[in-house]
Amino acid sequence: MREYDEADIIVSVSPSYWADVPGQFKAFIDRCTPWCNTHEPHAAIKPGKKGYSIALRTGPNMPECERIISTIEHFYGHLDIESVAQMGLTSIEYKEDVEPRKKEIIDFCSRI
Ligand SMILES: Cc1cc2nc3c(=O)[nH]c(=O)nc-3n(C[C@H](O)[C@H](O)[C@H](O)COP(=O)(O)O)c2cc1C
Repeated sequence: MREYDEADIIVSVSPSYWADVPGQFKAFIDRCTPWCNTHEPHAAIKPGKKGYSIALRTGPNMPECERIISTIEHFYGHLDIESVAQMGLTSIEYKEDVEPRKKEIIDFCSRI
C-alpha cells in the first residue's frame, strides 16, 4: 500500500484463471479491505490516482476479459482510483502470441 500511496498511476495486469483473476490477486484485493471506502473506519491512499486495467486469456472471447477488467475496476472504485483505460487481449497462451499484438500494446502504453 505504500507503493500505491506513492504512485500517480496504477497499472494492473491479470491473466484469466478459470474466467477470473488469479487467487493471489484476489487475496491481495481482499487484504485491501481496510482501505475500502465503504469499510468504516477505513484508511485511504492519496487521491487523484489513475488506474489502468489489462486482462489476457487463452480463449477467444472478449467477455471473459471484460469480467476480469470489471473486477479490477471495482477494486479501483473502492480505493477512489479513477479508471481511465482498459485493454483485453484474447487468444494469448504463449509469449509469441503477444508479438502480433505489439503495436496495440505499445499504442495503449503510450497513452498512459
Ligand atoms: C490455473 C489456470 C487457469 C486458467 N484458466 C483460463 C480460463 O478460464 N480462460 C482462459 O482463457 N485462459 C485460462 N488460462 C490461461 C491463462 O490465462 C494464460 O495462459 C495466461 O497467459 C497465463 O498467465 P501466467 O503465465 O502469468 O500464469 C488458465 C491458466 C491457468 C494456469
